[in-house]
Amino acid sequence: MKNLFSVEGRVVVMTGACGVLGSTIVGHFAEQGAKVVMLDLERTRPIAEELIANIEAAGGEACFLATDVMDKAILEQNYADIMARYGRIDVLLNAAGGNMPRATVSPEQTIFDLDVDAVKFCTDLNLYGTILPTMVFARAMAEQRSGSIINFASESALRPLTRVAGYGVAKAAVVNWTKYLCAELAQKFGAGLRVNAIAPGFLLTNQNRTLLTNPDGSLTARSHTILAHTPFGRFLEPEELLGTLQWLASDASKAVTGTVAVVDGGFDAFSI
Ligand SMILES: NC(=O)c1ccc[n+]([C@@H]2O[C@H](COP(=O)([O-])OP(=O)(O)OC[C@H]3O[C@@H](n4cnc5c(N)ncnc54)[C@H](O)[C@@H]3O)[C@@H](O)[C@H]2O)c1
Repeated sequence: MKNLFSVEGRVVVMTGACGVLGSTIVGHFAEQGAKVVMLDLERTRPIAEELIANIEAAGGEACFLATDVMDKAILEQNYADIMARYGRIDVLLNAAGGNMPRATVSPEQTIFDLDVDAVKFCTDLNLYGTILPTMVFARAMAEQRSGSIINFASESALRPLTRVAGYGVAKAAVVNWTKYLCAELAQKFGAGLRVNAIAPGFLLTNQNRTLLTNPDGSLTARSHTILAHTPFGRFLEPEELLGTLQWLASDASKAVTGTVAVVDGGFDAFSI
């Protein structure tokens, strides 16, 4: 019987591929037989080289291209390189992004202290850093009449979280863009083109370590509040996103587009 969840032989392009989540995700897709193209900033090349060595040692296929998701000219060059090498793109994971300490409002500050330039940069990276790669790489999908795009949203896109002002605004816009794009792609290029978002809950990663842990490694008051509001009572592990991502990338989600897959141990559903 055909494996509905198979991604074998698919060309999977991931931005932010050398980050905490990306490093786990690219290894998984390569292990599942996908050809993985890792896109990230030039400075992450050493991380990429180590990931590729591990993937190749396990019999998988991956390559790295330096990029900047906010620079369309560089993305165009990436596109040309990918098309020359594989001739198609089946899955686009828009994971480049993240929170920025300067775009937050600390407990000692108020909204009148907000650094608007930092909020703009955060929006540029998370929102336009999703829109621009899609404008470039989805051209292959439009020609193929097939492809799955997965945008990285966040818990803060669904309900605003205190402090992370800029990040929440940007990720909420990513969700709106995902829903908008679902109709745009399907109506103009057919039902083979899909776009969804994943909204990961709280993971303890480098991105949020200063918000969630004290210098001595103990949990902050904010962490205790989060865990008290999470039915699972714990932070999630990056590996716990893999099944949902593979589902969205594969034919198993053939009729799923414009949705946000919430993977959060129950945080968003929980009231009291
Ligand atoms: N880790 C979490 O707890 C969590 C939770 C919810 C959502 N997310 C989202 O998931 C995605 C990945 O998160 P992560 O924890 O792996 O973050 P991370 O900071 O570890 O990785 C992000 C990657 O994006 C890259 N990047 C930054 N600017 C870039 C640019 N201009 N062009 C190309 N690449 C660029 C960085 O080099 C880095 O490798 C992000 O969009 C993040 O907002 C993360």
